[in-house]
Amino acid sequence: MRALLTKIERASALDRAGDRLQRAVQATLRPQRVRDLLHGVFLGHPLHPALVQVPIGSWISAAVLDLLPGQRRAATTLVGLGTVSALPAAVAGLNDWAALSRDQRRIGLVHAASNTIGLTLYAGSLAARLNGRHGTGRALAYLGLSAASAGAYLGGHLAYKQGAQVNQSVSELHRIGEGWHALADLAALPQRKLVTREMDDVSVILYRHGDEVTVMLERCPHQSGPLGEGEVTEIDGHACVVCPWHGSAFRLNGGEVMHGPSGNDQQVLPTRVVDGVLEARLP
Ligand code: FES
Repeated sequence: MRALLTKIERASALDRAGDRLQRAVQATLRPQRVRDLLHGVFLGHPLHPALVQVPIGSWISAAVLDLLPGQRRAATTLVGLGTVSALPAAVAGLNDWAALSRDQRRIGLVHAASNTIGLTLYAGSLAARLNGRHGTGRALAYLGLSAASAGAYLGGHLAYKQGAQVNQSVSELHRIGEGWHALADLAALPQRKLVTREMDDVSVILYRHGDEVTVMLERCPHQSGPLGEGEVTEIDGHACVVCPWHGSAFRLNGGEVMHGPSGNDQQVLPTRVVDGVLEARLP
């Protein structure tokens, strides 16, 4: 199985179809507000993994009911619920997929293809059940569950091995020692400009506004882009840093994500000033 996954990760033959689909997704899912909604910006977490709970839960429950007598109606209802709820989950997944790296997109493409086959089989199962052909409906549903399970396995690989849509920066906190760390003389910090410093070899950015200073991790939670090289801009009245790689924006007075593709907030560190020296520590 590992060898197969490695082959898919390296399968450049998938790139032509992948690039076309990426362009189509980017051209279709507009404006930015729609993309942000689908990335889960309003949650501070990716939306796609939350949405997939409904179809997967419904389909597995229907598979159990299909084994029990007198449960046709309930099983049909759950197959219908799973089939309808798979559509928004798929759209959110495509939106995330379009902002992944190339090797992640290859696995993602096969993940999407498996789930599309699963969804088509479940749509066929629903149609058969509604026409009274429950035996066919059951058979199609079990085939659909097999395809969706293969898709789920690939989705797990995408998230847990390849780190797609996982917060890429938060693990840096484990490399910062306990206690307060001196970072800069407050008086020497420029106003409204990003300054990069190190805390135990972990890069952080400092942003001063008046006597308030924000200290946040520098690596972008999306794909580790250097936020210290980003621009500061105002979004909805809040000063935000915009990642130079794919444009995710984070509030400088709290770290909340304002625009995707990151679906995760950025980690801000507690600060204090002692004898004019700015210090920060682990949250
Ligand atoms: S690395 Fe992709 S938005 Fe920052």
